Amino acid sequence: MSNTVETATPITNNRYRLQYHLMPPTGWMNDPNGLIFYQGEYHAFYQHYPLGPWPGPMHWGHAKSKDLVHWEHLPIALAPSTQYDNGDHPVHGVWSGSAVDNDGELTLIFTAHNEGNTPVEVQCIARSRNGIDFEKGEKPVIGGPPDDECFGFRDPKAWRHGGKWYLVLGYGREGRGKALLYTSKGLNDWTYVGPAAESDGTLGDMWECPDLFRLGPAADDYVLIFSPMNIAPVKTLYLSGKFDYASGRLTTKQKDRIDYGFDFYAPQTFEDDKGRRIMFGWMNIWGAEMPEKEDGWMGAFTIPRELELAPDGTLRYHPVAELRELRGEHAAVSRTRLAAGTERELDGVESRSAEVIAVFQPEASGDATFGLRVRCSADGGQYTEISYSTAEGILRMNRDHAGAGAGGVSEVSLAPMADGRVKLHLFLDTSSVELFANDGVKTITNRIYPDTASVGIKLFAEQGDVLLESLDVWQLS
Ligand code: FRU
Repeated sequence: MSNTVETATPITNNRYRLQYHLMPPTGWMNDPNGLIFYQGEYHAFYQHYPLGPWPGPMHWGHAKSKDLVHWEHLPIALAPSTQYDNGDHPVHGVWSGSAVDNDGELTLIFTAHNEGNTPVEVQCIARSRNGIDFEKGEKPVIGGPPDDECFGFRDPKAWRHGGKWYLVLGYGREGRGKALLYTSKGLNDWTYVGPAAESDGTLGDMWECPDLFRLGPAADDYVLIFSPMNIAPVKTLYLSGKFDYASGRLTTKQKDRIDYGFDFYAPQTFEDDKGRRIMFGWMNIWGAEMPEKEDGWMGAFTIPRELELAPDGTLRYHPVAELRELRGEHAAVSRTRLAAGTERELDGVESRSAEVIAVFQPEASGDATFGLRVRCSADGGQYTEISYSTAEGILRMNRDHAGAGAGGVSEVSLAPMADGRVKLHLFLDTSSVELFANDGVKTITNRIYPDTASVGIKLFAEQGDVLLESLDVWQLS
């Protein structure tokens, strides 16, 4: 298999290239694949079409990092090369999957997709001793779905438990998405157990990229994340509860959307050497305008987010601590009352590549809407607004005036924290905003495409007064 791509499209303009997010060197990127901490380094693979910024026959792009923040690009790990993932039908490729460390052998488990074949989707593996060069197995390790008629059979996510291997696979049949559970002794030969979880008819007709993992204090505390199809605006969901290996079933106690933005899809998690459960998502969505395509590239990962299971079984999302390495110049505003109608621009502070933490203390009585405007143009016409309304208890991110690309308002219900405060933690990069609210209770992730010169940042309050307890801004580099 050749790993060199000679005709990749050049990047023609850097205006939207991100500073600290993983992006393809050129061409197209979608789902995170094969995330793993292997032999002392973080490896990330991703759905990749190297020849242009569109979803052509998929390859697995590859990068590695020592700190989750600075990435080194490696040669393409997998390319279409067999009858299962390559052929005359234009829709074929090496689709999504996962990675495991099989006693030192880095093993990738992926969907080989070929619309010229029946079945269209089978599950295959590839192995590597050095973590860079991979050799595919001769034949599929799962040769087809349990039922002939299905709407998708892909995206294996594997793990080891009690001396055996397990994987969940995305599947849909008769309008119901499912995560199918398989087990194996040696990765080559898998036995179908049954659905670990399935839609009750309201949770999507195909569950892409399922990922089932242990999280929380008890040995049987498990979380399933997946990307359900055809229930817009919902794009990703989690179910948390108890997983029973004897029955192979997850009993659900809580469910929610994972992220409330427009640009968050196909997240995948892995456990690192510190026992952290870390998630990356694809920071785009199928069908979006994707203005960076004009510049010869498309796609990025979110920042790495550490997952925590709260006592009530809901998920919390925390930017990993390593991101603090990026903090440069710091500016702060201390306790200030913002009267209704205030819009206050911060002097000498830019919001192009920045981390912002704003803590507000709303009045006990009276309503107010307050927040931040970022990536503001000098004339005030361009901005992205992050606001919280105490009357509605709703957090919003409005990108109707953000620049190129689609507008729209992302919103989610959010109660103030136990002490009444509202905390907005933002990661801004050249063409993205990630919001962590109230210490990771809810997140909103969006791509925005402002002019390069739109870097202003403003505080505002409307309807009523609000006390800004603190504001910290770091330039990130
Ligand atoms: C999710 C997805 C997966 C599939 C891959 C193809 O975004 O549709 O289900 O394996 O992308 O690139």
